[in-house]
Amino acid sequence: MPDYRPLYHFAPPTGWLNDPNGLVYHAGEYHLFYQWCPDVNVDGMRMYWGHAVSRDLARWEHLPAVLEPDALGSIWSGCAVDDAKNTSGFFGAGGGLVAAFTHHAASGAERQSLAHSSDRGRTWTKFAGNPVLGDEATRNFRDPKVFWHEQTGRWIMIVGVPHKLYASANLRDWTFLSAPGFSSECPDLFPLEVEGRGERKWLLSLGGYRYAVGRFDGTSFAAEGGPHMVDNGPDFYATQSWEHAPDGRRVWIGWLNHWRYAREVPDFGARGVMSIPRELSLQPSDERGLRLIQRPVREMESLRVETLSPADAEATSGRAIYRGDAYEVEATLLPEEWDRCGFRLRASGAQETRVGYDGVAGGLFFDRERSGGTLTRGYYGVLGRKKRYTLRVFVDRGSVEAFFDDGATVFSAQIFPDAEALDLTWFSENGKSGAEGVRVHALR
Ligand code: FRU
Repeated sequence: MPDYRPLYHFAPPTGWLNDPNGLVYHAGEYHLFYQWCPDVNVDGMRMYWGHAVSRDLARWEHLPAVLEPDALGSIWSGCAVDDAKNTSGFFGAGGGLVAAFTHHAASGAERQSLAHSSDRGRTWTKFAGNPVLGDEATRNFRDPKVFWHEQTGRWIMIVGVPHKLYASANLRDWTFLSAPGFSSECPDLFPLEVEGRGERKWLLSLGGYRYAVGRFDGTSFAAEGGPHMVDNGPDFYATQSWEHAPDGRRVWIGWLNHWRYAREVPDFGARGVMSIPRELSLQPSDERGLRLIQRPVREMESLRVETLSPADAEATSGRAIYRGDAYEVEATLLPEEWDRCGFRLRASGAQETRVGYDGVAGGLFFDRERSGGTLTRGYYGVLGRKKRYTLRVFVDRGSVEAFFDDGATVFSAQIFPDAEALDLTWFSENGKSGAEGVRVHALR
């Protein structure tokens, strides 16, 4: 079995990983907590929060897991905020971090609880008054995400599975506000800049699977567009965005997996990988109104260890332009009608993963029918016909993330090729399409 442990994506040292949790920026560090089980085979009643920190969203330092399961249940997904003003009363003058998470009981009951940390997230104390929201009868009431709402000067919590909004002055006592009318696990709600308009809209994320754009007045969310797909590939789920990130930037990360086969994909002494962190914004578009833009965070560029800049003719000759299993390809595709063109990744005689433009179907595509393994087959497409598409593809040991059109169309997927399938080549089925500005960056 090839070693699928990623070379630059986040994965746990051991055990099982699913959703990102507790994403918060505090004291110069981005915290990444995550649903963690000590065994590579997930056991829903033995979930903790795994923990890592980073100063640049690219290099992560593993820290001991926190929040062990207790009498109220297993520790399921949730969030963290920087309570700098000590609104919760848990801290002294300097404030600290407050986590809100779901206690999932063996009975199936789901309630929201709190924990606090005054040592930069290293150790946590669960609140003695837990749970703070929900009762022993509630089901499918989980994944709280909390943020500070400036205009109304209070904390807002959004909870799934049917989305519900609550408000609090102290993070302990929550009052029901409204139901946005959507339903998903791991909801998220945050303002985003509309590029070039100096205007902000709110994005409601349905588990990172779909999104709606609209207005939020501190009490209710009114959708103006969507829901649209976030990612057109199969393996991007349970996203969460960082609270309090510097310069007002909004960055999220997702679980690069799908529950349908997550329990069976090959493990690497651990199981589960995160996507690369993506910075978000909105752009006006003809077809969709305001559309979500996801760009790999600029810090990913610091992982480049070597860059190849082949001439356009060389890059599109069909010969291997690179051999490797952890790299980024940048290019501008110049597709011709009725052609299929793009890149073959992790290719050998028998295997290939293809990403590019399908002028027969009329749109962009990602194809893992021949990527290796049997669990994760599939062809994924999205309609559209343009004369040029910018493309950035991130390949790692067991995954591909392709960002077309400056982050307007994204495909994220796991692949499980043989260790020898390493070629990167260009293809154009009728030989007429081209690409320019091809760059390959080896990443570590
Ligand atoms: C989403 C999810 C959440 C839940 C967690 C349990 O993947 O099902 O709704 O809190 O995983 O691990």
